[in-house]
Amino acid sequence: MSIPVGSVAVPERVRALAHRAALEPVWLNEGGGVTFRTGDGRYIKYGPLTLESSFAGEALRLEWAGAHIRVPHVLEVGADSSHEWLVTRALGGESAVAPRWLAEPATAVRAVGEGLRALHDALPVADCPFEWTVASRIANAARRGIRVPDSLREPPPIDELVVCHADACCPNTLIGDDGYWSAHVDLGALGVGDRWADIAVASMSTEWNYGPGWEDALIAAYGLEPDRPRLTYYRELWNAT
Ligand SMILES: Nc1ncnc2c1ncn2[C@@H]1O[C@H](COP(=O)(O)OP(=O)(O)OP(=O)(O)O)[C@@H](O)[C@H]1O
Ligand SMILES: [Mg+2]
Repeated sequence: MSIPVGSVAVPERVRALAHRAALEPVWLNEGGGVTFRTGDGRYIKYGPLTLESSFAGEALRLEWAGAHIRVPHVLEVGADSSHEWLVTRALGGESAVAPRWLAEPATAVRAVGEGLRALHDALPVADCPFEWTVASRIANAARRGIRVPDSLREPPPIDELVVCHADACCPNTLIGDDGYWSAHVDLGALGVGDRWADIAVASMSTEWNYGPGWEDALIAAYGLEPDRPRLTYYRELWNAT
């Protein structure tokens, strides 16, 4: 998962979705997916179909969450026999791993932690039609042929149910020029779960992006003391699924 450095081949479908607009690759994911920014203010996410989640599901979640918090507005979503695409309107702000924020990790980490808290505070659990519980995650993994170790089958008691982002890694928070979070992206798995499921991944991901020593700063920005057993459990579950 990274900001591309070299040139990226533009798939035919993406070329067609862009109409005449210029295309700039902005993100490559682990699964061979690529995101382009268009010269006319859109983002085109394009990638191979997966069993894990779908852009149709992401579009539903963006539309649901968009009533409560700033997330990309869906313009188009579609798929063919091998690939899918999601076109959204460009939001202001830059990813928390843009070069300027990598150079200012204290600001970025605080923004991601505060942004995650704001997302959890804003999204109404009772109205949320999507699930990201441990049981649903283990079942989803099984559909993909992944068997979660027995030691992870029994989660810790729920601390607080929230609507989780479900991929709360730092690159999925956008930060404004003022250094505060401005929006959330990449909500393809959003659903109800324990808040520590998100906090564990968001804090763990600081090490990948900013190096060691930022995990607890993110949790402090969220507004909690680290809960070590839940952090350990949800990080292991993330790595296992
Ligand atoms: N509507 C938008 N407005 C602004 N930036 C966007 C928008 N959509 C996507 N981005 C940018 O493109 C990047 C890639 O989008 P996204 O995270 O949805 O793709 P992904 O391939 O699922 O990512 P991951 O590697 O985390 O799975 C984001 O981190 C963000 O910087
Ligand atoms: Mg992402």
